[in-house]
Amino acid sequence: MATSSAHPGRRRGRRAFITKGLAFGVAGAGFSLLPSEPLLAEPGSLTAGDAALLRFAAAAEILEADFWIQYNELGGVQDSEVPGGSGNPAYTEKFEAIDDDFPQYVHDNTDDEITHFRFLNAYLESHGAHAVNLEPFRTLPGSTATGSSRARRLTNLMQLTLDTSWWTRYRDDAHNPDLDPSFVFPQAVPDLSKGRFTAIPRTDADLKPAAHLQAIANTAAFHMPTIEQGGNSLYPALAQRATSVEVLRILISIGPTETMHFQTWSDVAGHVVSAPLAPLTDPTNGLTFPDLNAAPFGGELFETELIMPEPCPFLSRQLPKCSVIRPTETRGVAMGTLRFLNSMGLFIGQSPQFFQFMQGLATAADAAVRGAV
Ligand SMILES: [Fe+2]
Ligand SMILES: [Fe+2]
Repeated sequence: MATSSAHPGRRRGRRAFITKGLAFGVAGAGFSLLPSEPLLAEPGSLTAGDAALLRFAAAAEILEADFWIQYNELGGVQDSEVPGGSGNPAYTEKFEAIDDDFPQYVHDNTDDEITHFRFLNAYLESHGAHAVNLEPFRTLPGSTATGSSRARRLTNLMQLTLDTSWWTRYRDDAHNPDLDPSFVFPQAVPDLSKGRFTAIPRTDADLKPAAHLQAIANTAAFHMPTIEQGGNSLYPALAQRATSVEVLRILISIGPTETMHFQTWSDVAGHVVSAPLAPLTDPTNGLTFPDLNAAPFGGELFETELIMPEPCPFLSRQLPKCSVIRPTETRGVAMGTLRFLNSMGLFIGQSPQFFQFMQGLATAADAAVRGAV
């Protein structure tokens, strides 16, 4: 997006019905789905499969909201719409060095995720189905840097390993992971795919030196599109197995907002890997963000202004190329999403019970069959 001036008052009050309690809780919380719950028809009008699809999406959205809230507490616009923290001026300044609008985007993305899980859980309950409650797993210590609410967290933003190959996957016109599952798309920021890096200041000790804090903000700027492109694939993949037209409508209406997040953040991430910010090396650990417009990068796979999805093979190479979301394969997508989130380090420190619970939700969602009763 353009680096025009922020409009801090622009959207205040929109969706102001989100109260502090609800922002951190679950609509109608109180029920915990056991992973072993049999796949029987749900009471009300939802099939068991549709309920399982929505429940997995709700769980993913609760997790998404949890880490977006952490970003917002430290580096987002502070207001009553997304309450919790009080902002970290030094970290926020590094966000603004990437894009003037960064704190506003963080705020609005956080707000969106909170509404996603609240809607999905409320819809489930309104149809007599169980909502998802992850509150028993809110056990992880978060950042203690200035601005943090110091609340317990569901997700860990302090040891991330990021697969940034989506950058080239959406620029490659010859490959689609659905047709070329073993093809290796090159990484945009190779270092992020190898080590473990924090995307937020863990304590105030992380606020210096300046290049260290910028590298932390840069890591966040790559974590955000990495996550959002996952949601961008998850929803169309889940939607293919919805039975009710209304459940289909929910999935194909939330999914494209994840795509809007992805597109926005992929543009913002381009500022990290182009002049004047790039190249940048964190003096404390050597993490380097290259200039993707300079050798040995550059060209169609890397240039930072090429943010529109390149047409690629879709369904069959016998058909013309098409500009599409990729991948959208539906088989095993929920478990694949769980593996994707786990391998980025988002759950480091979580309990075996958490993994068991999430695997139960993913297994049920992956067992959903379109048209089943
Ligand atoms: Fe979402
Ligand atoms: Fe999202």
